[in-house]
Amino acid sequence: MLNIAVLISGGGSNLKALIDATSEPGFPARIAVVGSDTEAPGLAHAEAAGIPTFVVRPADSDTREEWGQLLAAAIQEHGVGTGPEPSLVVSAGLMRILPPGFVRLFSPALINTHPALLPNFPGAHAVRDALAAGAAETGVTVHVIDEGVDTGPVLRQRSVVVRDGETEDELHERIKQLERPLLVDVVRDIATGDLNLPQSAE
Ligand code: GAR
Repeated sequence: MLNIAVLISGGGSNLKALIDATSEPGFPARIAVVGSDTEAPGLAHAEAAGIPTFVVRPADSDTREEWGQLLAAAIQEHGVGTGPEPSLVVSAGLMRILPPGFVRLFSPALINTHPALLPNFPGAHAVRDALAAGAAETGVTVHVIDEGVDTGPVLRQRSVVVRDGETEDELHERIKQLERPLLVDVVRDIATGDLNLPQSAE
């Protein structure tokens, strides 16, 4: 059984998809803990499912590395990355860059979902940036996290054709409709061994 920690910052619809999938009998992964950098509304999905949650705010740490250490400790407290079972940290809408020490600790069992076809449109405003660039197509990427910003090895992608006159929210919601099942599939395939996690090239 793959032991997962999920990290979020917002509404947590990807987290909810993971909670629903991992609640199904026979799913080869379980969510041990859900963490956030803020009082994210999405934490309520975990609380409703009886999954432990924590908040570790960057403002309460002197440095990004110290924040990463507190985040790692909160995750490890729930057996993710410490027990005999394989583990995975999933950044599902965490709107922070994880510091190098944190990445080194969990790598390569540390993945992120990003609302663009990387390497296009990395960063915090991927959907807005795709619209501003007049991209005909964008999408979603699930990738292994390395020490860069959305630069780690790509695991899977799905594309979406941009519609004329579409708003950022409309396009993001259409991306998320593909993103949720894609993330669930990636987690399942990592758990079964059908998808191997490549070491990043650092
Ligand atoms: C998702 O689309 C995720 O890819 C994106 O935030 C959204 C969270 O939605 N992440 C980033 O933009 C990270 N750069 P959710 O809270 O409904 O799961």
